[in-house]
Amino acid sequence: MISTKVNLPTVGVVGAGAMGRGIVQLFAQAGHRVRCFDAAPGAASRAVDFALGMIERGVAKGRLSAEGFEAIRTGMAACTQMADLAECDVVIEAIVEDLEVKRALFRALEDVVADTAVLASNTSSLTVADIAAACRHPARVAGLHFFNPVPLMKVVEVIAALRTSAQTVALLGELVRGTGHRAVVTADQPGFLVNHAGRGLYTEGLRIVEEQAAAPADVDDVLREGMGFRMGPFELLDLTGLDVSSRVMTSIYEQFQHEPRFRPSSLVAPRVAAGMFGRKTGEGWYVYDGDVRRAEPRPVAPPLPSALSVWVDPQASGHAGLVALLSDAGAVLTADAARAAVCIVQPWGVDATRAATALGLDATRTVAIDPVVPLALRRTLMLTANTSPDTRDGAWALLAADRVPVTLINDSPGFIAQRVIATIVNIAAQIAQRGIASVADIEDAVKLGLGYPQGPLAWGDQIGGARVLEILHNMQAETGDPRYRPSPWLARRVALGVPLVTPEAARF
Ligand SMILES: NC(=O)c1ccc[n+]([C@@H]2O[C@H](COP(=O)([O-])OP(=O)(O)OC[C@H]3O[C@@H](n4cnc5c(N)ncnc54)[C@H](O)[C@@H]3O)[C@@H](O)[C@H]2O)c1
Repeated sequence: MISTKVNLPTVGVVGAGAMGRGIVQLFAQAGHRVRCFDAAPGAASRAVDFALGMIERGVAKGRLSAEGFEAIRTGMAACTQMADLAECDVVIEAIVEDLEVKRALFRALEDVVADTAVLASNTSSLTVADIAAACRHPARVAGLHFFNPVPLMKVVEVIAALRTSAQTVALLGELVRGTGHRAVVTADQPGFLVNHAGRGLYTEGLRIVEEQAAAPADVDDVLREGMGFRMGPFELLDLTGLDVSSRVMTSIYEQFQHEPRFRPSSLVAPRVAAGMFGRKTGEGWYVYDGDVRRAEPRPVAPPLPSALSVWVDPQASGHAGLVALLSDAGAVLTADAARAAVCIVQPWGVDATRAATALGLDATRTVAIDPVVPLALRRTLMLTANTSPDTRDGAWALLAADRVPVTLINDSPGFIAQRVIATIVNIAAQIAQRGIASVADIEDAVKLGLGYPQGPLAWGDQIGGARVLEILHNMQAETGDPRYRPSPWLARRVALGVPLVTPEAARF
């Protein structure tokens, strides 16, 4: 049962837009007295009314008593002038994303609040130290980065700028935990934690499409259905809007001094120029009728051939599962690769062509299947640069015989899933290496902030740190691209044979 608590800090919220009203709701329903101010007349009271309306739903659902609601209501106030924030112990700023406007606001706030009050910015992309530098007391200034919608997104980044005091970080962490949200502490670095960790999905997804390895819908299908992402990168880009995402991609790349891991794709600018932003313009990677994505024709598996001879690499990670699946589909398994109509390999970080030549197989009769994607969920079938149409159709039909969907892709070191997951693990390892956040905070922030089915480092452990390192090394060797160079944090743990998430880190 929710009730107001007299000894909790009074929270001021400046900026009563999409984020501000959510922040008002979160702290009001956690029992804080809340004061809201906005430069636009009427905006603060609209935000307070909106938050109250949301909280009142709890009364109808029996989660809040009428008295509890009344206590919350009397604890909330819309202010008409900034001076009304004088009694606030903490002020959270959620105004326009403009450094000079934020700096002017923080300077003005310091003249209003007590010297002991903490000031926090909800900036997504500015350097918190730049805002703090405008203040007389930068030690009490930090970032407090919420996600939209604030009451539902249960993670908040506490950003410790260089001069932020440990006391300020601790107070904000406690404030967030009091609402039931998870507070993660992060350094004042580009993208902070969540937006930094989230880079890999977009950059690698785009790279796969750029190389013509697979179509956007194939990348999305494999990652969503095969790997458990809520949405694939192209669905997400269409939802957020490519105009917005493009700016974030470029800004993070610039702020990281052109780190190749964050290099944006040249596919993006022409699409932004053409107005193909996604849902909001009716066309992006997909076409929309209103809010509904238009169905596209998808390739249909060819008819099942009878008694096709198939050789499966005995060293393949998923050998047993593949053999069972193929025999159920009517294939004739053979140990003679030289005579088989279809040869199947399961490489890690290597393309089908190289895997075939390394084993001395005839590339025209060879295909590859991604061992990372569970066979029960989806199958990624990769062709060499010259797999014959007969071999392609035979393998495709056999894999589709039990109606589990098959995604056909062109030759690509690391298929779709290996490339994307290894990139995500590598970026998370580098976040740990750089001390931007703790392992426990990385794991929880990614699950709660990005909705991934598991934390990136735990995912690395599940695939195997050594496997992830092998994928990265091979991709780096095949492409010559430094974006795949492994993080030393990952390489050291693999060398020592220790997990990426130790039981100690998982306890937090
Ligand atoms: N929208 C998101 O998904 C999201 C997520 C995380 C962080 N953020 C960050 O939160 C901040 C606010 O974003 P938003 O989406 O809520 O914006 P918004 O445009 O919905 O609201 C901003 C509000 O600030 C008010 N405002 C502008 N200048 C002001 C000033 N000088 N003094 C007082 N009020 C002022 C405006 O009148 C407006 O009501 C930005 O820094 C943004 O980067 C946004």
